[in-house]
Amino acid sequence: MSAPHDKGWLTVIGLGPGGPHLTTPSVTSVISEATDLVGYGPYLDRIKGQEPGQRRHASDNRVEVERAGEALRLAAEGRRVAVVSGGDPGVFAMAAAVFEAIEAGDPAWRTIDIRVEPGVTAMLAAAAEVGAPLGGDFCAISLSDNLKSWTTITRRISAAAQADFVIALYNPASRARPHQLGDAFDLLRGLKSGDDLVMFVRAAGTKDARVKLTTLAEADAADADMRTMVIIGSSQTRTIDRPGAHPWVYTPRREMDGEGGA
Ligand SMILES: C[S@@+](CC[C@H](N)C(=O)[O-])C[C@H]1O[C@@H](n2cnc3c(N)ncnc32)[C@H](O)[C@@H]1O
Repeated sequence: MSAPHDKGWLTVIGLGPGGPHLTTPSVTSVISEATDLVGYGPYLDRIKGQEPGQRRHASDNRVEVERAGEALRLAAEGRRVAVVSGGDPGVFAMAAAVFEAIEAGDPAWRTIDIRVEPGVTAMLAAAAEVGAPLGGDFCAISLSDNLKSWTTITRRISAAAQADFVIALYNPASRARPHQLGDAFDLLRGLKSGDDLVMFVRAAGTKDARVKLTTLAEADAADADMRTMVIIGSSQTRTIDRPGAHPWVYTPRREMDGEGGA
């Protein structure tokens, strides 16, 4: 249990993947104590109800470091500030932007009471929808090239495929980046078996969750949108058929025959 705050503070929170049941109790209590909520508009819209006098500062998705600076200025003035992300705030989200702003910003910001509250990241909610695909070693890669180059992304995808990691792809598609997931599948087809499993999980952790299970050879990038997590199995990832529902998918923790060399 953290020590109580006694002056202005800034806590970075993640609301979880969508359903309110996956927002942690600690995050709910930060929201109720905050005087100011700062975040991307659609994430703030997920917070129902408003404490008396609580202010909301909604901004565009692309201005993360500026938004972090605004939140730090408010906390330095003595406000109690919650910076709001979806999922977990440390996974492709606002916590890193807050630290980036602190590193480059006013030295006085280093004395602010800064905390990061963990949340349920989309990858974990998506994995739970299909079974246990992350049971072995895995990695997470964001396909967004807003903040890094496509060359870096393809180098990391290739290395992950060559090391036979399960690969969880965040940000697989957006209107501004319609070709990237297809290009990533083409790259992976040259490095992995076409029989390796691919899971498209949309709106994981909500009542609208949808799963499509296919193989790398058959995977169609059109099945992903901005609310989809794409998980690509390793050579060890397998299915268990069951009646009336999609098969369970899991990756065993133990090393199976033929894996890892002699
Ligand atoms: C900018 S990232 C933010 C990730 C977030 N911080 C987290 O920990 O989940 C947004 C991406 O997360 C994935 N995502 C977020 N919520 C999701 C959900 N409920 N189901 C599937 N994927 C989701 C999608 O790939 C989406 O494009």
